[in-house]
Amino acid sequence: MIRPIMINAAMEDVEMNILKEHLGNLTKVEDKICTFYEGCLDGYPVILCSTSEGLINAAVSTSVGINKYNPIAVIVQGVAGGHGFDIHKSDIIISSDVININSVKTSIRKIGEGVDTTKWEHLNFKHGRKELVPVKADETLIKIAQQVGENYTKKNVILGRIGSGDIWNREADRILMFNNKFGTLCEDMESFAVLQVAEKYDIPSISIRIISNNEVNSEIYDRNLGYDCQRFVIDFVKEYIKGISK
Ligand code: 5AD
Repeated sequence: MIRPIMINAAMEDVEMNILKEHLGNLTKVEDKICTFYEGCLDGYPVILCSTSEGLINAAVSTSVGINKYNPIAVIVQGVAGGHGFDIHKSDIIISSDVININSVKTSIRKIGEGVDTTKWEHLNFKHGRKELVPVKADETLIKIAQQVGENYTKKNVILGRIGSGDIWNREADRILMFNNKFGTLCEDMESFAVLQVAEKYDIPSISIRIISNNEVNSEIYDRNLGYDCQRFVIDFVKEYIKGISK
């Protein structure tokens, strides 16, 4: 049995529409957790996994997809918010690794002492782990994405860290804190969950994101940039297939 490639998206209308068109001849498979589309690209089986937004949806959908289809690789893709002055709308971010930016332990504060997010300690809730440990993207997938990136003409293609969490940050100082402290280039709501689940199953994975907004540069949200990300991902998957079909 040929192991398919699984491509995830949170927002089907802007992060999966072009992929659906390109794959053609799709079989829709409704699951209680998410929706799958079984198809082919260049004769190679591809599964689209429509997860909905957020870490929990992304994690559980990825887990169901892996158990159902045993993919050879998992690609999570879509729009993301920029985390630095040098990051702009339409830039493509290729994940070197991903962190959960909202995995925190607060300091002890008594009634009336209020909230101080600057004292929050970022850590993985994993036995024996005190610091925020990233999940790495697969090296081979990174190389292919970089190679495809050489032909991307709309803006820059940058390799680096992606942060994920169920908070949409619109506070410039908080965004810059993540960028300065952890080196995040952008944030989304799914990548960490997908790469973490894939890692547990020993399946290579990567996140490919397009910047759709950047608060620190006052660049407003355009979710339709998800179309360009899908086009990049199609080129990426085509290149990847060439390698595995050899
Ligand atoms: N912060 C968090 N998520 C964002 N997304 C795009 N921009 C941002 C941002 N600045 C993505 C998430 C989610 C959807 C609402 O958009 O990954 O799926």
